[in-house]
Amino acid sequence: MSNDNSSTPKHPVNAPDGTPVPYDTHVPTHREAEPIADPGLPAHTWRPTDVDPKAEKRAERQIAAMFIAAMISAILFVVAYFSFEVGDNWDTFAGLGASTITLGLTLGISLLLIGTGIIHLARKLMADHEMVEMRHPAASPQEDRDATVQALNDGLAEAGIGRRPLVRNTMIGAVGVLGLPAVVLLRDLAPGDALDIDKLGNTIWEPGMRLVRDVVGTPILASEVEMGDLINGTAEAMFPSEENGYPELHGAEEQAEKAKAAIIVVRMDPDEITPLEGREKWTVDGIICYSKICTHVGCPISLYERTTHHVLCPCHQSTFDLADHARVVFGPAARPLPQLPLAVDDEGYLVAQSDFTEPIGASFWEREKL
Ligand code: FES
Repeated sequence: MSNDNSSTPKHPVNAPDGTPVPYDTHVPTHREAEPIADPGLPAHTWRPTDVDPKAEKRAERQIAAMFIAAMISAILFVVAYFSFEVGDNWDTFAGLGASTITLGLTLGISLLLIGTGIIHLARKLMADHEMVEMRHPAASPQEDRDATVQALNDGLAEAGIGRRPLVRNTMIGAVGVLGLPAVVLLRDLAPGDALDIDKLGNTIWEPGMRLVRDVVGTPILASEVEMGDLINGTAEAMFPSEENGYPELHGAEEQAEKAKAAIIVVRMDPDEITPLEGREKWTVDGIICYSKICTHVGCPISLYERTTHHVLCPCHQSTFDLADHARVVFGPAARPLPQLPLAVDDEGYLVAQSDFTEPIGASFWEREKL
């Protein structure tokens, strides 16, 4: 900064027609003495778009072309969204599907063109004059800094850390090593083999296992299920006894199996059921069974509306149509509730034909591998 008190720049700027361009008004009228002389501003150079109307028009057209291309690319994104099924054409390019590639490319190009257009606008057409604003000292007043240092020293003296290097060094080590668990836990967020995914893909259900009422464990006679009923149930193996011969489970294993085995059983007019292909024989006289665990993030669902056959998850309002393979009709869940194939045994009790044929509960990276 120069030692003079003037705000006049060393190189006054005039517009191409000769009229002076005012400098920014933030320039102070008083400047303190500075140890380094103010070098001033370099001579202003006008851009071609400032002095040549043709260049200005050309830049205008270039920028407009970028914005129009961005619009087209965004529209192509919508077209691609509806044209390609997610999961189709998985080997289109480098193992990525047509949907992934086209959605990524069109959205990426659109954003890139908008960004490039804005940069061009700023560089070629926006007002071009230098702004000057004085920097103010960032440091706190000396007395505040002294008080802070004094407070720190007092604290250290009282804690006796300076006199006890063993305590000081081990404390620093303990706090430093505390960062390791956070780093290790990040591993669980990544796709990979960190999880025992078999545990997530299988439940305790097996062919011939009876459905029982939750809490009490009584088996469910098909003939006793009323039209419009919703029964909260689970697998008979969760109520082991000498009679049924299922082994006792304990602790975390019992809790995990209990959560995965939870089901809802409803009965409706068989004519109202729209089974998926291959699931025509998964119901018994209109009795149909699904996992009770929401496919969004795993809350237990149970709010049933018998007239529409919709069941609602209380956590985020995902709604599933039980008459139509539990497809999602509303909410954030991305896939239907898994269905348990049903049959009846010799005594007329409801039994499972098999385990669930897909992982139950919330989605996870490795789900497709199961
Ligand atoms: S857990 Fe069911 S909607 Fe979120």
